[in-house]
Amino acid sequence: MLRAIDENTITDAAIEQMAATPNPRLKQIMEPLVRHLHAWAREADLTPEEWLEGIKFLTAVGQKCTAFRQEFILLSDTLGMSSLINSLHDKRAAEAGTKSSLVGPFYRQDSPPMKLGDTIVTKPTNGLEVVLYGRVTDRAGKGVPNASIEVWQPDETGNYDLQKHDPSEMDLRGHFHTDSDGRYYLRTVAPLGYMIPMDGPVGDMIRAQKRHGYRPAHIHFIVGAPGYREVVTALYLAGDPHVDSDTVFGVTESLVTKVNEKDPGSPIPALPSIKFDFQLAAATAKDMTGRVGADPSQIVKVGA
Ligand code: BEZ
Ligand code: FE
Repeated sequence: MLRAIDENTITDAAIEQMAATPNPRLKQIMEPLVRHLHAWAREADLTPEEWLEGIKFLTAVGQKCTAFRQEFILLSDTLGMSSLINSLHDKRAAEAGTKSSLVGPFYRQDSPPMKLGDTIVTKPTNGLEVVLYGRVTDRAGKGVPNASIEVWQPDETGNYDLQKHDPSEMDLRGHFHTDSDGRYYLRTVAPLGYMIPMDGPVGDMIRAQKRHGYRPAHIHFIVGAPGYREVVTALYLAGDPHVDSDTVFGVTESLVTKVNEKDPGSPIPALPSIKFDFQLAAATAKDMTGRVGADPSQIVKVGA
């Protein structure tokens, strides 16, 4: 019998039409998506003009994406989706590890390989030189040798290399490996907090919502080793004025660190330092990547 379609029956009609989806996970994802999307439209009593505005907005988000800019990830970040997906990912781990934080739009693959103690600063800078050091350990506190540590950050003015130079030039990025005890250390400059990219549709949304648009000062990391779950995270600097109001909800208490002026335990005690130990959870067969995000060039490639 022909179903009478109205604002309530449409939801079941749409879900029933998808019921034969052969991929069970796709089915499991799409059904609640339709249910919640419809419930949202009903709750907001959305008009055709408003929905068209939304479609125009999403179109503009897509059009802003390039090999160097991922406006959809920025949208996910600013809506709290990236942070939510990270929390769900952390909950799925077989054992506790360092908490995840956002990849953000400035990650790039193939950052230069470096030796322990190297500086990731390759351009002239007025920043405060600091040492970053600590260990990568397992759940029991045992060092993980030869763990991979990718690090990237903005400079002392709050800008990433991608925002300043020819994108083919990398700065303030590096790829390190821990020593036989799981130790790492490197030199860099203390970063400054910054505004997320505001020159696109996501910026328009942030302004319309009267949000400040800032991220507190932070340094990004991807840490991993064979047999362990990769952790995508960031360290946030205590004292930043936006540490408790991050526009993209990346800050969590355990990731807030401070710059110590004097630390006799630092491998370079003459410099201020930030100490942080990363804890890796054992990998399970079910573990997938924890990256809510990617090098933007890879996403454009996938879509091409
Ligand atoms: C970042 O930390 O690089 C970032 C994360 C989300 C949005 C914008 C920037
Ligand atoms: Fe960042």
